[in-house]
Formats: sequence, structure tokens, C-alpha cells
Amino acid sequence: MGKALIIGAGGVASVVVHKCCQNPDVFEEICIASRTVSKCDALKAKLDGGKTKITTAQVNADNVPELIALIEKVKPDIVINVALPYQDLTIMDACLATKVDYVDTANYEPEDTAKFEYKWQWAYRERFKEAGITALLGSGFDPGVTSVFSAYAQKHYFDEIHSIDILDANAGDHGYPFATNFNPEINIREVTANGSYFDNGKFIETEPMSIKRVYDFPQIGPKDIYLLHHEEMESLALNIKGIKKIRFWMTFSQNYLTHLKVLENVGMTSIEPIEFEGKQIVPLQFLKAVLPDPSSLGPRTKGKTNIGCIFQGVKDGKPLTYYVYNVCDHQECYKEVGSQAISYTTGVPAMIGASMVMTGKWKRPGVFNIEEFDPDPFMDALNKFGLPWHEDFAPALID
Ligand SMILES: NC(=O)c1ccc[n+]([C@@H]2O[C@H](COP(=O)([O-])OP(=O)(O)OC[C@H]3O[C@@H](n4cnc5c(N)ncnc54)[C@H](OP(=O)(O)O)[C@@H]3O)[C@@H](O)[C@H]2O)c1
Repeated sequence: MGKALIIGAGGVASVVVHKCCQNPDVFEEICIASRTVSKCDALKAKLDGGKTKITTAQVNADNVPELIALIEKVKPDIVINVALPYQDLTIMDACLATKVDYVDTANYEPEDTAKFEYKWQWAYRERFKEAGITALLGSGFDPGVTSVFSAYAQKHYFDEIHSIDILDANAGDHGYPFATNFNPEINIREVTANGSYFDNGKFIETEPMSIKRVYDFPQIGPKDIYLLHHEEMESLALNIKGIKKIRFWMTFSQNYLTHLKVLENVGMTSIEPIEFEGKQIVPLQFLKAVLPDPSSLGPRTKGKTNIGCIFQGVKDGKPLTYYVYNVCDHQECYKEVGSQAISYTTGVPAMIGASMVMTGKWKRPGVFNIEEFDPDPFMDALNKFGLPWHEDFAPALID
């Protein structure tokens, strides 16, 4: 069918590459391009020889002219951005200049301000529409699958959804005292930011980790969950009819939180540059350099993730509750693609989102959040490509 340019060669990109190669009818050809080309070449070496033709390239995705030159050379049908959120706008600029479709998994964040909002990417709506190209935002798991779950619940089960609780549990154990499951800089910026939830038309801010509950997850058991701000709440608040309340919950162990608190207290999670031995360094970037590389966690991580959504609302005038979730086993993921479940649960939906646009099922000019498209073909593809989902119409609720 066509060709994808994959930007980034980290944990998530590795899964995207594996999954594109499992879907060669759509991805006849892929080019893996990143800052460090040796990482792209290593991925190619691992997967070469199948039906999907693989090439590699070096690119600095902060540089628009470099990106344009690469896109003009490769001539892809779509660009899959699995670099970092800092590169979203430069890659969107290059897609606009070359009239190529775009997909990502995380919303833009300026490097010097830890604040995730869609306003920067939504500002591209008219230009993408005029150029006749599609930008699909947030095609990972959360955002991504959680948003598709919401569209599916709205389409098939509810007249109105009144509340959504998004529940993200990772019961994996990597055996290190402290490590993050994806890019440590992005991860720590996310969990040290203020929390927030949507309540009757507005967002209420909370102190980081100040709201805690315990939830008994299917196939995992009881875990401490903490309320966080998460980007999909911003678009779901606009796109889900009748919605009154949205909360996002993530599991953290006491051990993780204690380490994080100490690092925060001594200034290691700060993104303010400091002078060190005559050089400017950002403490959080230095911390990233000393923490275990998330891609090295694959062989060590045991246990499962469970990510899903509990919806409450009405159907035919009667109250209805619906829970839909996926359970993913770290070791099974490692056996299949050489990565742990956090990269797997992000990389599979990124490939599926790109295939939705490439096959024309989700091809529409403009900039869209993932819940704005028909969820059905995506839900089918989740079952086919390794992220099967389960339903429960009488789940335990969170107060
Ligand atoms: N929606 C979700 O569910 C979800 C979940 C987890 C992660 N994510 C997102 O997925 C993305 C990838 O995460 P990851 O864990 O794979 O991160 P990662 O392992 O750190 O990989 C990032 C990759 O991007 C490359 N890169 C960084 N800056 C670049 C630049 N200026 N030009 C070209 N390449 C550049 C890096 O190159 P080097 O190797 O040279 O550093 C690296 O290969 C992030 O945006 C993250 O927020 C989404």
C-alpha cells in the first residue's frame, strides 16, 4: 500500500517498526530516521529480510529544513512521530510544507516549560485542512486507546456519558530501586506537575500526588492510584457529549514516590539550567543520563499492565456503567518484540493509527484528536495486533 517515515529510534519507535513489519500489506516500506542513526541501523539489522523494505536516515527533528529535505527524499505517505513531544511542531511544519499526513503519540510541550496543552497543535487545524492533509494527534495508549475506548463507549453503549475514570496500572517489576518505563525526562515532568480533573465544565488543579485511592485491578490486584493531569482529558472534555467529570489515575509504588520525593527535594528534577564546571546543565537531563535506559528494562521487567476506562452515564433513560481495559504482560511483549509493555502499549496503537490514515479509513483534512474518528476499525485492529480488550458492565467504582 505505501511508505511511512518513522522519526525516533527509542523504545516506542522500536515497537512501531516491529509492528509495521507485521503489517506489510499496509507498510510496504518504512524509513527509520533519528538523531543517532546507529540506533536506526540497529533496528533495521534486527528486522531486515521480511516483506517490508527498511531504510534509515539521520535527522535532527528540531530543524525544519532538514526534515523537509528528508521527506522530499523519502517521499512517504505518512510521518509517524515517535521522537519526543518537543519535536511535534517542527515535524508538523515539515508535513505541511511537503503535504504529507502526520501522526504522533504525545502532545507538544515547549522544552523549557513542563505544560502539556493541545493549543499549539490545534492552531494548525486550518492550515492542515487547506493543505488537504490529516494530522492524527495522540495515537498511543493514553492518550490513544483510552480515547478510542471513549469514542467506542459513546457510539455503542451510551446516550450520554457523564463521567470517565481513566485507570493506568503498571504492576511490572524491573528489579531496580528506581527507573522510569519510558523517557525519564518526559515521565518525571509529567508526574511532578500539578494534578487536575475536569468537573462541570472546568479543570480543577490539585497538588501533585495529593489525591489517592486504591483500586482492585482485574488480573493485577489492588494498587494505590494517584490522580494526575493527563492530556486526553482536554480533548475528551470537548468531544464526549454530555460529559461532566473526567479523572486520570496512575499507579505508583511507595518506593517510586519516595525516590522521586528525594530527587525533587535535592533539585534533581528541575528543568531550570544550572552552571556546572563552566557548563550549563539541566538537572533533569543529567538525571536522565544516570538512570537506567528504559529500553534496557525489557528483559528484566516482570508482571502486567492494565489500562482502561470506566464510564458512567445513561442509556434509554437508565443509568449504565461500562469498563473496558487491556491487560498486557511485560515478558510476553519482550518475547515478541524485545520491549517491555509500556513501549509496546504505545507502539502498537501508533502503528494502527498510521494504518487507519494510510488505508483511507481515517483520512480527513485537518488536525484531529483520535476520538474524533470511527473507533470500530481501530478496536478490531487492537485485537489483531496484540492489545485485546475486555469489557465489564458491573465494575467496582472509584469514589
Ligand atoms: N501516548 C502514550 O501512551 C505514550 C506513552 C509513552 C510514551 N509516549 C511518547 O512516545 C514518544 C517516544 O517515547 P520513547 O519512550 O520511545 O522515548 P525515547 O526512548 O527517549 O526515544 C526518543 C527518540 O527520539 C529521538 N530524538 C530525540 N530528539 C530528537 C531530535 N531532535 N531529532 C531526531 N530524533 C530525536 C531520540 O534520539 P537519540 O537516540 O539520539 O536520543 C530517540 O531515538 C515520546 O513522545 C513519549 O512522550 C506516549
